[in-house]
Amino acid sequence: MIDIHSHILPGIDDGAATPEEALQIARAAVEEGITTIIATPHHQNGKYINSKQSILENVETLNTLLQNENIPLTILPGQETRIHGDLMDELDTDVILPLNHTNYVFIELPSGHVPRYTEQMLFDLQLKGLTPIIVHPERNAEFIENPDLLYKLVSKGALTQITSSSITGHFGKNIKKFSLQLVEAQLTHFLASDVHSLKNRPFRLADGYVVLNKELGSQAEYLFKENAELLVQNLTAYRMDPMKIKKKKFLGIF
Ligand SMILES: [Fe+2]
Repeated sequence: MIDIHSHILPGIDDGAATPEEALQIARAAVEEGITTIIATPHHQNGKYINSKQSILENVETLNTLLQNENIPLTILPGQETRIHGDLMDELDTDVILPLNHTNYVFIELPSGHVPRYTEQMLFDLQLKGLTPIIVHPERNAEFIENPDLLYKLVSKGALTQITSSSITGHFGKNIKKFSLQLVEAQLTHFLASDVHSLKNRPFRLADGYVVLNKELGSQAEYLFKENAELLVQNLTAYRMDPMKIKKKKFLGIF
């Protein structure tokens, strides 16, 4: 299994605090059946700045540590980039780090709303040849209130990633329901853990796939797992043709 969203790099955001904690998280990943993790530390979320070069160095250090400890897990570089006014400039100055150096880039929105310039910025990213992936839309208050807004962004080329703890119900019943509706409406394309710590925000990725399979069938599980593999290789992820997303068909969420 591949996990495309994690805070495993130690000491640089609100994820693993120490190298020892990163190793514990890594061992838990292996037990869960995860072979590859993209490290996606917070960047520009109001608290943490983690630019491309420093992330690459931290990934190398952790991979060396994993090899020394004989833990069969590979860490790939990435970044959870909060949308902000200087994002396009930061792309040009090599501060932004797309996932595993592919054309996919994580975009985090504030949890309470969707900034008005989001649509334009997602468009500008695509003009640069990048595919923006909106992380955990199921936990954004404005998308919950107005799913049509997410539909609009996905129709215009954005992809989205939901969190495994959301579909297992650990963020509450409503977020679980909304997450499954997003899967069914083909408005989301990846499942990932967003692991921060084993105590408070563990993987639950295997459990998430079990829920996906149980609620929406084995094809949903297969497609999401396949998409994580395609992403890592910079291949095109499966997505519904936006023209074919029939709004009314999906559970009346629009
Ligand atoms: Fe995250």
